[in-house]
Amino acid sequence: MQKYFNIVTYGCQMNVHESEKIAGLLDELGYAYCDDMFKADIVVFNTCCIRENAENHAFGNIGMLKKLKAERRDMIIAVGGCLTQQMGKAENLHDKFPYVDIIFGTHNLYKLKDYILEKQKKSKPVIRIEEDGGFICEGEKPLRTSYPNAWVNITYGCNNFCSYCIVPYVRGRERSRKSENIITEVKQLVSEGYKEITLLGQNVNSYGNGTDEISFPRLLEKIAQIDGKFRLRFMTSHPKDFSEGLARVMRDNPKICRCLHLPVQSGSDSILKAMNRKYTSADYLKKIEILKKYIPDCAVTTDLIVGFPGETEDDFRATLDLVKKVNYSSAFTFVYSKREGTVAARMDNQIPEEVSKRRIMTLVELVNSLTREHSAKYFGKEVEILCEGYDEKKGMYLGRDEFGRMGYFESSTDVKGQFINLKVQKANGVSLIGRRV
Ligand code: SAH
Ligand code: SF4
Ligand code: F3S
Repeated sequence: MQKYFNIVTYGCQMNVHESEKIAGLLDELGYAYCDDMFKADIVVFNTCCIRENAENHAFGNIGMLKKLKAERRDMIIAVGGCLTQQMGKAENLHDKFPYVDIIFGTHNLYKLKDYILEKQKKSKPVIRIEEDGGFICEGEKPLRTSYPNAWVNITYGCNNFCSYCIVPYVRGRERSRKSENIITEVKQLVSEGYKEITLLGQNVNSYGNGTDEISFPRLLEKIAQIDGKFRLRFMTSHPKDFSEGLARVMRDNPKICRCLHLPVQSGSDSILKAMNRKYTSADYLKKIEILKKYIPDCAVTTDLIVGFPGETEDDFRATLDLVKKVNYSSAFTFVYSKREGTVAARMDNQIPEEVSKRRIMTLVELVNSLTREHSAKYFGKEVEILCEGYDEKKGMYLGRDEFGRMGYFESSTDVKGQFINLKVQKANGVSLIGRRV
């Protein structure tokens, strides 16, 4: 009888891609995908712990399966990802949810198949968390779910230790894949018909550091030289490692999208220092100036945190000023969330929730107004969209232009995976509506 799996994914693109790898492993075991976790024979939670609400979300959903598990004892529940990798969290999870069958971490995801086979032979839960062994798993066969885009890891882990961030503790030290393996993977994906390749790493532009590998700009250049029509994207870049060489390679290779996600986090120098970001607001603005010198119309997006310990009204105003100066085309905004084990969690000047809430509302308003202004400039223009799928609610196809702006349009045929030219008829806040030309 056919058995089914379901995966619930939280967190960043790294996790989205890792869920594709988990799906690949389950496929090898003979399970087929099913979109209803209540009908699945195995449910995997791929968790995130970047902020407290990401954790609460996962805990809530795992709790929801308690009743079902009591009725269907042969069903397997597995929990992996960043949350379980935190110190003491696997035990904590086991105490809270003793019916969870398998708990695994970020460093041993590729062993999940063994854990499932082990669990099928015994009643006790299989709890396996490994320390960072500097290992890179190659030869995985992900079941990709994001066509026409394909995610490709280039680095794992992070060495930056921004003082607020849990990632280095749960993902380990930075490791770079061999460039030949990356290039082989991208060639294969392009030959299979993928139209967009997104390179993934916590800090892609430090790719190759500490090894004899080529630099990140050189890697991009080599990938952009692969034959075929496809778009090349990458995330995330750390401002301290953004170089003029990267801007030049972006300008000279049309396959590389003219957009850069460059998280700034704050516009205040004292907060940036306390965050251990290793640049000042002036350094950051200088990098933007270099980028714009090479690619004047490059879209720039960012991540921002408000309410970092000790953030004053002046610090916050500095963030608002920087956001206006850079004129971001969009931004992700977050309220600082205290993460146990990080340096910032030990700082004593934590900001009251109501202050952070007020600040985030002001910031979101500013970011939205900039996004609307950017969208308005599209009115009447022609853009090339890579169609990503169909939006049932809107009854329209959708896709992004190279700058990352979402465009909607009508089509009588399924054009997913095709490049479509649109004449923009409406610029609706964050998204565009157009007619095929
Ligand atoms: N490696 C990437 C992404 C890190 S996580 C980078 O360095 O940009 C994505 C974003 O989450 C970060 O850029 C930051 O803005 C936010 N973030 C990380 N830790 C956080 C915390 N403790 N509280 C609130 N936001 C946080
Ligand atoms: Fe976290 Fe900083 Fe590393 Fe990004 S660069 S993952 S914010 S420690
Ligand atoms: Fe979350 Fe881990 Fe990504 S903490 S944001 S899933 S690296």
